[in-house]
Amino acid sequence: MRVPAFSALLTDAGREVLAGVDPSAAARDPLATASRLREDPGVAALDPGLPVAELVNAVMTQVGLRARGRAKFGGNAERMFFTPDGLEQSTRRIVAEYRAERTARHLPDAVSGGGAAAGDLCCGIGADLLALAGRGVPVEGVDADPLTVAVARANIDALGLSGHARVREGDVNEVGAGDHPLLFCDPARRGGRGRVFDPAAYSPPWDVATRLAEEAEAACLKAAPGIPHEVLSPAASAEWISVDGELKETALWFGTLAEGSRRRATVLHERTGLLASEGSVAHLDAEPDLGPAPVAPARRYLYDPDPAVVRSHLVAEAAARVDGALLDERIAYFTSDRAERSPLWRVLEVVEFAPFSLKRLRSSVRAHKAGTVTIKKRGSAVDTERLRRDLRASGPESVTIALTRIGERPFYLLCREVGAPEAP
Ligand SMILES: C[S@@+](CC[C@H](N)C(=O)[O-])C[C@H]1O[C@@H](n2cnc3c(N)ncnc32)[C@H](O)[C@@H]1O
Repeated sequence: MRVPAFSALLTDAGREVLAGVDPSAAARDPLATASRLREDPGVAALDPGLPVAELVNAVMTQVGLRARGRAKFGGNAERMFFTPDGLEQSTRRIVAEYRAERTARHLPDAVSGGGAAAGDLCCGIGADLLALAGRGVPVEGVDADPLTVAVARANIDALGLSGHARVREGDVNEVGAGDHPLLFCDPARRGGRGRVFDPAAYSPPWDVATRLAEEAEAACLKAAPGIPHEVLSPAASAEWISVDGELKETALWFGTLAEGSRRRATVLHERTGLLASEGSVAHLDAEPDLGPAPVAPARRYLYDPDPAVVRSHLVAEAAARVDGALLDERIAYFTSDRAERSPLWRVLEVVEFAPFSLKRLRSSVRAHKAGTVTIKKRGSAVDTERLRRDLRASGPESVTIALTRIGERPFYLLCREVGAPEAP
Protein backbone atom coordinates (compact mmCIF):
# COMPACT_ATOMS: atom_id res chain seq x y z
CA MET A 1 0.00 0.00 0.00
CA ARG A 2 1.35 3.44 -0.93
CA VAL A 3 0.64 6.65 0.98
CA PRO A 4 -1.60 8.24 -1.74
CA ALA A 5 -3.90 5.20 -1.89
CA PHE A 6 -4.09 5.08 1.90
CA SER A 7 -4.79 8.84 2.05
CA ALA A 8 -7.66 8.36 -0.40
CA LEU A 9 -9.34 6.10 2.19
CA LEU A 10 -9.25 8.88 4.77
CA THR A 11 -11.43 11.24 2.74
CA ASP A 12 -15.18 11.29 3.47
CA ALA A 13 -15.77 9.39 0.22
CA GLY A 14 -13.06 6.86 1.14
CA ARG A 15 -14.60 6.24 4.57
CA GLU A 16 -17.96 5.74 2.87
CA VAL A 17 -16.50 3.13 0.51
CA LEU A 18 -14.88 1.33 3.46
CA ALA A 19 -18.09 1.39 5.47
CA GLY A 20 -19.97 -0.04 2.49
CA VAL A 21 -17.92 -3.26 2.41
CA ASP A 22 -19.37 -6.15 4.40
CA PRO A 23 -16.31 -7.72 6.10
CA SER A 24 -17.79 -11.22 6.28
CA ALA A 25 -18.79 -11.14 2.60
CA ALA A 26 -15.27 -9.88 1.74
CA ALA A 27 -13.72 -12.73 3.75
CA ARG A 28 -16.04 -15.32 2.21
CA ASP A 29 -15.62 -14.22 -1.39
CA PRO A 30 -12.84 -11.64 -1.78
CA LEU A 31 -12.87 -11.88 -5.58
CA ALA A 32 -16.57 -10.95 -5.78
CA THR A 33 -16.09 -8.01 -3.39
CA ALA A 34 -13.02 -6.78 -5.28
CA SER A 35 -14.80 -7.00 -8.61
CA ARG A 36 -17.82 -5.07 -7.24
CA LEU A 37 -15.41 -2.37 -5.99
CA ARG A 38 -13.68 -2.22 -9.38
CA GLU A 39 -17.04 -1.50 -11.02
CA ASP A 40 -17.96 1.15 -8.43
CA PRO A 41 -17.34 4.63 -9.95
CA GLY A 42 -17.05 6.00 -6.41
CA VAL A 43 -13.84 4.00 -5.92
CA ALA A 44 -12.16 5.30 -9.07
CA ALA A 45 -13.19 8.85 -8.04
CA LEU A 46 -11.32 8.56 -4.71
CA ASP A 47 -8.12 9.54 -6.54
CA PRO A 48 -8.38 9.74 -10.33
CA GLY A 49 -4.57 9.88 -10.51
CA LEU A 50 -4.24 6.33 -9.16
CA PRO A 51 -4.98 3.00 -10.88
CA VAL A 52 -8.37 1.63 -9.76
CA ALA A 53 -6.70 -1.69 -8.93
CA GLU A 54 -4.48 0.06 -6.38
CA LEU A 55 -7.46 1.76 -4.72
CA VAL A 56 -9.42 -1.50 -4.64
CA ASN A 57 -6.40 -3.22 -3.13
CA ALA A 58 -6.13 -0.52 -0.43
CA VAL A 59 -9.81 -0.97 0.47
CA MET A 60 -9.58 -4.77 0.56
CA THR A 61 -6.37 -4.66 2.62
CA GLN A 62 -7.94 -2.36 5.20
CA VAL A 63 -11.11 -4.44 5.46
CA GLY A 64 -9.07 -7.63 5.94
CA LEU A 65 -6.71 -6.06 8.49
CA ARG A 66 -9.58 -4.63 10.54
CA ALA A 67 -11.06 -8.10 10.79
CA ARG A 68 -7.69 -9.52 11.90
CA GLY A 69 -7.11 -6.54 14.18
CA ARG A 70 -10.10 -7.48 16.36
CA ALA A 71 -7.97 -10.11 18.10
CA LYS A 72 -5.60 -7.41 19.34
CA PHE A 73 -7.76 -4.31 19.56
CA GLY A 74 -11.29 -5.58 20.12
CA GLY A 75 -14.05 -3.26 18.88
CA ASN A 76 -11.58 -0.37 18.30
CA ALA A 77 -10.22 -2.28 15.28
CA GLU A 78 -13.36 -1.39 13.31
CA ARG A 79 -12.39 2.30 13.43
CA MET A 80 -8.63 1.85 13.18
CA PHE A 81 -6.27 1.63 10.21
CA PHE A 82 -3.40 -0.81 9.72
CA THR A 83 -0.58 -1.97 7.52
CA PRO A 84 0.12 -5.71 7.47
CA ASP A 85 3.50 -5.22 9.19
CA GLY A 86 2.14 -2.55 11.52
CA LEU A 87 -0.62 -4.85 12.77
CA GLU A 88 1.77 -7.77 13.12
CA GLN A 89 4.24 -5.74 15.20
CA SER A 90 1.72 -3.80 17.27
CA THR A 91 1.18 -4.30 20.99
CA ARG A 92 -2.12 -5.95 22.00
CA ARG A 93 -4.45 -3.44 23.55
CA ILE A 94 -4.55 -5.14 26.97
CA VAL A 95 -0.74 -4.96 27.27
CA ALA A 96 -0.52 -1.38 25.99
CA GLU A 97 -3.22 -0.34 28.47
CA TYR A 98 -1.47 -2.13 31.31
CA ARG A 99 1.87 -0.41 30.56
CA ALA A 100 0.21 2.95 29.98
CA GLU A 101 -1.44 2.70 33.37
CA ARG A 102 1.89 1.98 35.09
CA THR A 103 3.49 4.86 33.14
CA ALA A 104 0.73 7.34 33.94
CA ARG A 105 1.16 6.64 37.67
CA HIS A 106 4.79 7.83 37.62
CA LEU A 107 4.94 10.66 35.11
CA PRO A 108 7.92 13.01 35.37
CA ASP A 109 6.84 16.53 36.40
CA ALA A 110 7.77 17.95 32.99
CA VAL A 111 5.14 15.73 31.36
CA SER A 112 2.43 15.80 34.02
CA GLY A 113 2.71 19.60 34.12
CA GLY A 114 2.06 19.73 30.39
CA GLY A 115 5.46 21.30 29.58
CA ALA A 116 6.75 18.36 27.51
CA ALA A 117 5.34 15.43 25.59
CA ALA A 118 6.36 11.83 26.10
CA GLY A 119 8.15 10.36 23.07
CA ASP A 120 6.98 7.09 21.50
CA LEU A 121 10.08 6.35 19.46
CA CYS A 122 9.21 3.76 16.79
CA CYS A 123 5.49 4.31 17.26
CA GLY A 124 4.35 2.00 14.43
CA ILE A 125 0.61 2.19 13.83
CA GLY A 126 0.36 3.67 17.32
CA ALA A 127 -0.94 0.98 19.68
CA ASP A 128 1.22 2.16 22.60
CA LEU A 129 0.85 5.83 21.81
CA LEU A 130 -2.95 5.51 21.71
CA ALA A 131 -3.00 3.85 25.14
CA LEU A 132 -0.86 6.65 26.63
CA ALA A 133 -2.90 9.41 24.98
CA GLY A 134 -6.08 7.65 26.16
CA ARG A 135 -4.88 8.24 29.72
CA GLY A 136 -4.31 11.91 29.02
CA VAL A 137 -0.51 11.63 28.65
CA PRO A 138 0.68 14.08 25.96
CA VAL A 139 2.72 12.03 23.50
CA GLU A 140 4.65 12.53 20.27
CA GLY A 141 5.21 9.48 18.08
CA VAL A 142 8.20 9.11 15.77
CA ASP A 143 8.48 6.53 13.01
CA ALA A 144 10.80 6.24 10.03
CA ASP A 145 8.21 4.84 7.63
CA PRO A 146 5.96 7.44 5.91
CA LEU A 147 2.98 5.09 5.42
CA THR A 148 3.17 3.94 9.05
CA VAL A 149 3.20 7.59 10.15
CA ALA A 150 0.08 8.27 8.05
CA VAL A 151 -1.63 5.24 9.60
CA ALA A 152 -0.72 6.27 13.16
CA ARG A 153 -2.09 9.78 12.47
CA ALA A 154 -5.31 8.29 11.13
CA ASN A 155 -5.64 6.17 14.29
CA ILE A 156 -5.17 9.16 16.58
CA ASP A 157 -7.91 10.90 14.66
CA ALA A 158 -10.18 7.82 14.51
CA LEU A 159 -10.05 7.40 18.29
CA GLY A 160 -10.54 11.11 18.99
CA LEU A 161 -7.12 11.57 20.61
CA SER A 162 -5.66 14.43 18.58
CA GLY A 163 -5.79 16.65 21.67
CA HIS A 164 -3.10 14.48 23.29
CA ALA A 165 -1.07 12.87 20.51
CA ARG A 166 0.80 13.75 17.35
CA VAL A 167 3.21 11.88 15.07
CA ARG A 168 6.20 12.88 12.99
CA GLU A 169 8.39 11.10 10.47
CA GLY A 170 11.94 10.71 11.72
CA ASP A 171 14.88 8.46 12.49
CA VAL A 172 15.22 7.45 16.12
CA ASN A 173 18.98 7.15 15.66
CA GLU A 174 18.93 10.95 15.41
CA VAL A 175 16.96 11.54 18.61
CA GLY A 176 19.18 13.21 21.17
CA ALA A 177 19.63 11.98 24.73
CA GLY A 178 17.36 14.05 26.94
CA ASP A 179 15.05 15.15 24.08
CA HIS A 180 12.16 13.50 25.93
CA PRO A 181 11.89 13.42 29.74
CA LEU A 182 9.68 10.35 29.27
CA LEU A 183 10.14 7.94 26.43
CA PHE A 184 8.81 4.65 25.22
CA CYS A 185 10.62 2.67 22.54
CA ASP A 186 9.59 -0.53 20.79
CA PRO A 187 12.35 -1.21 18.25
CA ALA A 188 11.48 -3.08 15.05
CA ARG A 189 12.25 -6.77 15.26
CA ARG A 190 11.62 -7.54 11.61
CA GLY A 191 14.23 -7.21 8.90
CA GLY A 192 14.00 -7.76 5.16
CA ARG A 193 14.17 -11.52 5.77
CA GLY A 194 11.61 -11.80 8.54
CA ARG A 195 11.85 -11.84 12.30
CA VAL A 196 15.11 -10.76 13.94
CA PHE A 197 16.20 -12.44 17.19
CA ASP A 198 19.56 -10.75 17.84
CA PRO A 199 18.92 -7.51 19.82
CA ALA A 200 21.89 -5.92 18.05
CA ALA A 201 19.91 -6.32 14.80
CA TYR A 202 16.78 -4.57 16.15
CA SER A 203 16.07 -1.20 14.52
CA PRO A 204 17.25 0.92 16.24
CA PRO A 205 19.79 -1.50 17.77
CA TRP A 206 19.10 -2.47 21.39
CA ASP A 207 22.16 -0.59 22.72
CA VAL A 208 20.96 2.65 21.06
CA ALA A 209 17.48 2.27 22.57
CA THR A 210 18.98 1.38 25.97
CA ARG A 211 21.23 4.45 25.95
CA LEU A 212 18.29 6.74 25.20
CA ALA A 213 16.26 5.10 27.98
CA GLU A 214 19.07 5.32 30.52
CA GLU A 215 19.50 9.03 29.84
CA ALA A 216 15.80 9.91 30.10
CA GLU A 217 14.15 10.79 33.38
CA ALA A 218 11.71 7.93 32.87
CA ALA A 219 11.50 5.33 30.12
CA CYS A 220 10.08 2.01 29.04
CA LEU A 221 11.58 -0.24 26.37
CA LYS A 222 9.73 -3.16 24.83
CA ALA A 223 11.63 -6.24 23.67
CA ALA A 224 10.97 -9.79 22.60
CA PRO A 225 10.07 -12.08 25.51
CA GLY A 226 13.06 -14.26 24.71
CA ILE A 227 15.64 -11.46 24.90
CA PRO A 228 18.68 -12.77 26.82
CA HIS A 229 18.79 -11.55 30.43
CA GLU A 230 22.48 -10.62 29.92
CA VAL A 231 21.67 -7.77 27.49
CA LEU A 232 19.20 -6.11 29.86
CA SER A 233 20.44 -2.87 31.38
CA PRO A 234 21.34 -3.17 35.08
CA ALA A 235 19.72 0.27 35.49
CA ALA A 236 16.29 -1.12 34.56
CA SER A 237 13.67 -3.21 36.26
CA ALA A 238 12.48 -5.95 33.92
CA GLU A 239 8.99 -7.34 33.53
CA TRP A 240 7.89 -10.35 31.51
CA ILE A 241 4.26 -10.13 30.45
CA SER A 242 1.97 -12.94 29.33
CA VAL A 243 -1.63 -12.84 28.15
CA ASP A 244 -3.86 -15.88 28.64
CA GLY A 245 -0.84 -18.10 29.20
CA GLU A 246 1.11 -16.87 26.17
CA LEU A 247 4.31 -14.94 26.73
CA LYS A 248 4.13 -11.62 24.87
CA GLU A 249 7.03 -9.32 25.73
CA THR A 250 9.71 -8.05 28.05
CA ALA A 251 9.18 -4.49 29.29
CA LEU A 252 12.17 -2.65 30.73
CA TRP A 253 11.43 0.23 33.09
CA PHE A 254 13.93 3.02 33.73
CA GLY A 255 14.24 6.05 36.00
CA THR A 256 11.11 7.01 37.88
CA LEU A 257 9.19 4.16 36.19
CA ALA A 258 11.56 1.54 37.62
CA GLU A 259 9.57 1.17 40.81
CA GLY A 260 9.56 -2.02 42.81
CA SER A 261 11.51 -5.18 42.25
CA ARG A 262 14.26 -5.71 39.70
CA ARG A 263 12.39 -8.59 38.05
CA ARG A 264 8.69 -9.16 37.77
CA ALA A 265 6.35 -11.62 36.08
CA THR A 266 2.98 -10.19 35.08
CA VAL A 267 0.10 -12.35 33.99
CA LEU A 268 -2.80 -10.71 32.20
CA HIS A 269 -6.07 -12.36 31.31
CA GLU A 270 -7.91 -11.14 28.27
CA ARG A 271 -10.48 -13.90 27.86
CA THR A 272 -12.27 -12.68 30.95
CA GLY A 273 -12.94 -9.51 28.93
CA LEU A 274 -11.43 -7.32 31.64
CA LEU A 275 -8.61 -4.88 31.20
CA ALA A 276 -5.68 -4.76 33.59
CA SER A 277 -7.12 -1.86 35.53
CA GLU A 278 -10.18 -3.95 36.33
CA GLY A 279 -8.40 -6.64 38.26
CA SER A 280 -7.30 -9.28 35.76
CA VAL A 281 -3.61 -8.85 36.51
CA ALA A 282 -1.34 -10.91 38.75
CA HIS A 283 2.28 -10.15 39.60
CA LEU A 284 5.18 -12.07 41.02
CA ASP A 285 8.24 -10.11 42.10
CA ALA A 286 11.84 -11.15 42.66
CA GLU A 287 12.68 -11.44 46.32
CA PRO A 288 16.19 -10.43 47.32
CA ASP A 289 18.27 -13.21 48.94
CA LEU A 290 15.64 -15.88 48.40
CA GLY A 291 18.23 -18.38 47.19
CA PRO A 292 17.48 -21.47 45.10
CA ALA A 293 14.25 -23.42 45.65
CA PRO A 294 14.50 -26.72 47.52
CA VAL A 295 14.29 -29.91 45.44
CA ALA A 296 12.06 -32.86 46.44
CA PRO A 297 10.11 -35.77 44.96
CA ALA A 298 6.51 -35.15 43.92
CA ARG A 299 4.13 -34.26 46.72
CA ARG A 300 0.34 -34.15 46.51
CA TYR A 301 0.15 -31.26 44.02
CA LEU A 302 2.05 -30.38 40.86
CA TYR A 303 2.46 -26.73 39.88
CA ASP A 304 2.96 -25.68 36.26
CA PRO A 305 3.98 -22.01 36.30
CA ASP A 306 2.90 -19.46 33.68
CA PRO A 307 5.58 -18.76 31.03
CA ALA A 308 6.04 -15.21 32.40
CA VAL A 309 7.11 -16.76 35.73
CA VAL A 310 9.47 -19.17 33.99
CA ARG A 311 11.02 -16.63 31.64
CA SER A 312 11.56 -14.07 34.42
CA HIS A 313 13.45 -16.78 36.37
CA LEU A 314 11.03 -16.47 39.28
CA VAL A 315 10.14 -20.13 39.72
CA ALA A 316 11.84 -20.24 43.15
CA GLU A 317 9.66 -17.28 44.24
CA ALA A 318 6.55 -19.01 42.94
CA ALA A 319 7.43 -22.25 44.76
CA ALA A 320 8.14 -20.33 47.98
CA ARG A 321 4.60 -18.92 47.93
CA VAL A 322 3.20 -22.43 48.46
CA ASP A 323 6.11 -23.86 50.53
CA GLY A 324 6.91 -25.86 47.42
CA ALA A 325 9.96 -27.62 46.02
CA LEU A 326 11.25 -28.20 42.50
CA LEU A 327 11.17 -31.73 41.12
CA ASP A 328 14.54 -31.05 39.53
CA GLU A 329 16.69 -27.94 39.93
CA ARG A 330 16.77 -27.33 36.14
CA ILE A 331 13.06 -27.85 35.44
CA ALA A 332 10.26 -25.37 36.13
CA TYR A 333 7.69 -27.79 37.61
CA PHE A 334 7.28 -27.55 41.38
CA THR A 335 5.37 -29.51 43.92
CA SER A 336 3.66 -28.85 47.24
CA ASP A 337 1.43 -30.48 49.85
CA ARG A 338 -1.09 -27.72 49.48
CA ALA A 339 -3.15 -26.49 46.55
CA GLU A 340 -3.38 -22.77 45.98
CA ARG A 341 -5.03 -21.48 42.86
CA SER A 342 -3.49 -18.45 41.15
CA PRO A 343 -3.27 -16.95 37.65
CA LEU A 344 0.51 -17.38 38.08
CA TRP A 345 0.35 -21.15 37.71
CA ARG A 346 -1.83 -24.14 37.06
CA VAL A 347 -2.15 -26.57 39.95
CA LEU A 348 -2.96 -30.26 39.47
CA GLU A 349 -3.45 -33.12 41.88
CA VAL A 350 -0.86 -35.88 41.43
CA VAL A 351 -2.40 -39.32 41.13
CA GLU A 352 0.71 -41.21 40.14
CA PHE A 353 4.40 -40.32 39.92
CA ALA A 354 6.77 -42.84 38.39
CA PRO A 355 9.68 -43.35 36.00
CA PHE A 356 8.40 -43.17 32.43
CA SER A 357 7.00 -46.44 31.08
CA LEU A 358 4.52 -46.50 28.22
CA LYS A 359 3.08 -49.80 29.42
CA ARG A 360 2.46 -48.55 32.93
CA LEU A 361 1.12 -45.19 31.78
CA ARG A 362 -1.27 -46.86 29.35
CA SER A 363 -2.69 -49.15 32.01
CA SER A 364 -3.08 -46.22 34.45
CA VAL A 365 -4.92 -44.12 31.86
CA ARG A 366 -7.15 -47.12 31.20
CA ALA A 367 -7.74 -47.66 34.94
CA HIS A 368 -8.84 -44.03 35.20
CA LYS A 369 -11.25 -44.48 32.25
CA ALA A 370 -9.69 -41.36 30.77
CA GLY A 371 -10.55 -40.59 27.17
CA THR A 372 -9.47 -36.94 27.35
CA VAL A 373 -5.74 -36.73 27.96
CA THR A 374 -3.82 -33.46 28.13
CA ILE A 375 -0.09 -33.98 27.78
CA LYS A 376 2.42 -31.36 28.99
CA LYS A 377 6.13 -31.64 29.14
CA ARG A 378 9.15 -29.88 30.55
CA GLY A 379 12.59 -31.33 29.97
CA SER A 380 11.22 -34.44 28.29
CA ALA A 381 12.21 -35.77 24.87
CA VAL A 382 9.05 -37.87 24.48
CA ASP A 383 7.10 -37.27 21.24
CA THR A 384 3.73 -36.23 22.71
CA GLU A 385 1.69 -36.86 19.56
CA ARG A 386 3.05 -40.37 19.28
CA LEU A 387 2.45 -40.96 22.98
CA ARG A 388 -1.14 -39.82 22.57
CA ARG A 389 -1.65 -42.36 19.77
CA ASP A 390 0.11 -45.11 21.71
CA LEU A 391 -2.06 -44.53 24.80
CA ARG A 392 -5.23 -45.42 22.83
CA ALA A 393 -7.20 -43.57 25.53
CA SER A 394 -10.95 -43.99 25.76
CA GLY A 395 -13.51 -43.30 28.45
CA PRO A 396 -15.51 -40.48 30.01
CA GLU A 397 -12.83 -39.09 32.37
CA SER A 398 -10.04 -36.51 31.86
CA VAL A 399 -6.45 -36.64 33.06
CA THR A 400 -3.32 -34.58 32.53
CA ILE A 401 0.02 -36.26 32.03
CA ALA A 402 3.12 -34.18 32.85
CA LEU A 403 6.32 -35.55 31.35
CA THR A 404 9.61 -34.49 32.82
CA ARG A 405 13.00 -35.72 33.90
CA ILE A 406 14.73 -35.88 37.22
CA GLY A 407 18.46 -35.91 36.80
CA GLU A 408 18.78 -37.75 33.50
CA ARG A 409 15.84 -40.09 34.15
CA PRO A 410 12.45 -39.55 32.46
CA PHE A 411 9.41 -39.46 34.75
CA TYR A 412 5.69 -38.96 34.37
CA LEU A 413 3.05 -37.53 36.67
CA LEU A 414 -0.51 -38.59 36.07
CA CYS A 415 -2.69 -35.77 37.38
CA ARG A 416 -6.25 -34.61 37.57
CA GLU A 417 -7.88 -31.25 38.14
CA VAL A 418 -7.87 -30.15 41.77
CA GLY A 419 -11.20 -31.12 43.29
CA ALA A 420 -12.02 -33.68 40.55
CA PRO A 421 -13.84 -36.78 41.88
CA GLU A 422 -11.84 -39.89 42.76
CA ALA A 423 -11.65 -42.51 40.01
CA PRO A 424 -13.84 -45.52 40.97
C1 LIG B 1 7.66 -2.89 16.61
S1 LIG B 1 7.10 -1.57 15.62
C2 LIG B 1 6.32 -0.53 16.79
C3 LIG B 1 4.96 -0.98 17.17
C4 LIG B 1 4.21 -0.05 18.10
N1 LIG B 1 4.79 0.01 19.41
C5 LIG B 1 2.76 -0.49 18.22
O1 LIG B 1 2.43 -1.15 19.18
O2 LIG B 1 1.98 -0.19 17.31
C6 LIG B 1 8.60 -0.77 15.25
C7 LIG B 1 8.51 0.45 14.35
O3 LIG B 1 9.79 1.05 14.35
C8 LIG B 1 9.97 1.73 13.12
N2 LIG B 1 11.42 1.97 13.00
C9 LIG B 1 12.42 1.07 12.77
N3 LIG B 1 13.61 1.68 12.79
C10 LIG B 1 13.38 2.99 13.05
C11 LIG B 1 14.20 4.13 13.20
N4 LIG B 1 15.53 4.04 13.09
N5 LIG B 1 13.63 5.31 13.44
C12 LIG B 1 12.28 5.42 13.55
N6 LIG B 1 11.44 4.37 13.42
C13 LIG B 1 11.98 3.18 13.17
C14 LIG B 1 9.35 0.81 12.11
O4 LIG B 1 8.96 1.54 10.96
C15 LIG B 1 8.17 0.21 12.89
O5 LIG B 1 6.99 0.90 12.59
